[in-house]
Amino acid sequence: MTATLIRGRTLSFKRAPASLEDTDAYAYETDGALLVENGLILASGAYEAVKAQAPEDVAEIDHRPHLILPGLIDTHLHFPQMQVIGSYAANLLEWLNTYTFPEECRFVETAHAERIATHFFDEMIRHGTTTAVAYCSVHKSSADAFFAEALRRNMRMVAGKVMMDRNAPQGLLDTPQMGYDETRAVIEQWHGKGRNHVAITPRFAITSTPEQMSAAQVLVREFPDLHVQTHLSENRDEIDFTCSLYPDAADYTDVYARYGLLGPKTLFGHCIHLSEREMDAMSETGSIAVHCPTSNLFLGSGLFPLKKLVGREKPVRVSVATDIGGGSSYSMLRTMDEAYKIQQLQGERLNPFESFYYMTLGNAEALSLEDKIGTLEPGTDADFIVLNMAATPAMALKAEVVTSLVDELFLLQTMGDDRAITETYVAGVSAKAGLAG
Ligand code: GUN
Ligand code: ZN
Repeated sequence: MTATLIRGRTLSFKRAPASLEDTDAYAYETDGALLVENGLILASGAYEAVKAQAPEDVAEIDHRPHLILPGLIDTHLHFPQMQVIGSYAANLLEWLNTYTFPEECRFVETAHAERIATHFFDEMIRHGTTTAVAYCSVHKSSADAFFAEALRRNMRMVAGKVMMDRNAPQGLLDTPQMGYDETRAVIEQWHGKGRNHVAITPRFAITSTPEQMSAAQVLVREFPDLHVQTHLSENRDEIDFTCSLYPDAADYTDVYARYGLLGPKTLFGHCIHLSEREMDAMSETGSIAVHCPTSNLFLGSGLFPLKKLVGREKPVRVSVATDIGGGSSYSMLRTMDEAYKIQQLQGERLNPFESFYYMTLGNAEALSLEDKIGTLEPGTDADFIVLNMAATPAMALKAEVVTSLVDELFLLQTMGDDRAITETYVAGVSAKAGLAG
């Protein structure tokens, strides 16, 4: 593949910004460029300096005046819930039983899973999400459909076959042995193939018997480098039900701790109602609390204490995610708009640099993948997006009075969605042009 020079304003984080004034936390070039070849970023920085490193006859794509950012990362969503989004339910457990479980039963059909996988990856690209961490359904074939499509698109994806063996319709249950065997088969077939990562995925304690939790523990011991994903402390009724199913556990977090599931590769979706003891346990193990703002508001689950978690003496690692289809938007921009409001309601501020850090490098760090994604550093994957702060008439009007980078980011977060994503590059290749619709 020949090298390409991509020009525009570039923004990439180096670490979490401590404040709005913390300009050392990021690199911003008003006339910047990326040199990409063979799916990687070879050089990045000021346009003239990067051009000097490029071959004489390099192809050049000019995105000025738009902003180039690392591809967005979504650390929690459900691939079989694309037709669950926008379902009218009072709370989590009603939503699961009435809409979500019946819909996931349809993924026993390979043709259905393959059709939805195509739509899933189209939406990711449309919304500028180049890496996502997905739950498939309980059916191994759903994971096969997901990873086959990820491979075709050459996208870096993390996903797992859900393990669940109780408290759901018969068509959605495996057994401890099946969950173990099929997860192993998915790992052997897909992990490390192309850019695929397999995650060990017990859905949550309510839908796994103690025997299945033990099977998940064996998998974690056998494959210690793999990601683990599950749900924790999303809803008060869910917490009470969980504690009744595991009466020996000190609390919800302790259920997972007893099966060795806490750790630096474990992503716990939601974590809204944790006690100080649970936060300490999360912190001591390096576990990640995944904030899903649109979902938490949509299902009325509660207000995620982001600033409290990251600011406490024993900080908890945090990432951000859409949680489709409990979440109501595929857009990480819409997601961070809601995250901002959730902090406002708790008397806290989430500044635009923090938001854009979380969507990119922050989420990459949460996945321990910052050497590959979430940044524009040379040597990393050439997954990046082009953002237009004047994408709609209303945004263009507001953009007339925007005079700083921070104002631009805040406008993108407050009013932006897929229309603000001008282009999505996957491994150095423009991916938006080929989309249907
Ligand atoms: N807890 C267990 N399963 C799910 C799910 O699919 N979505 C959400 N939001 N919470 C869950
Ligand atoms: Zn979820």
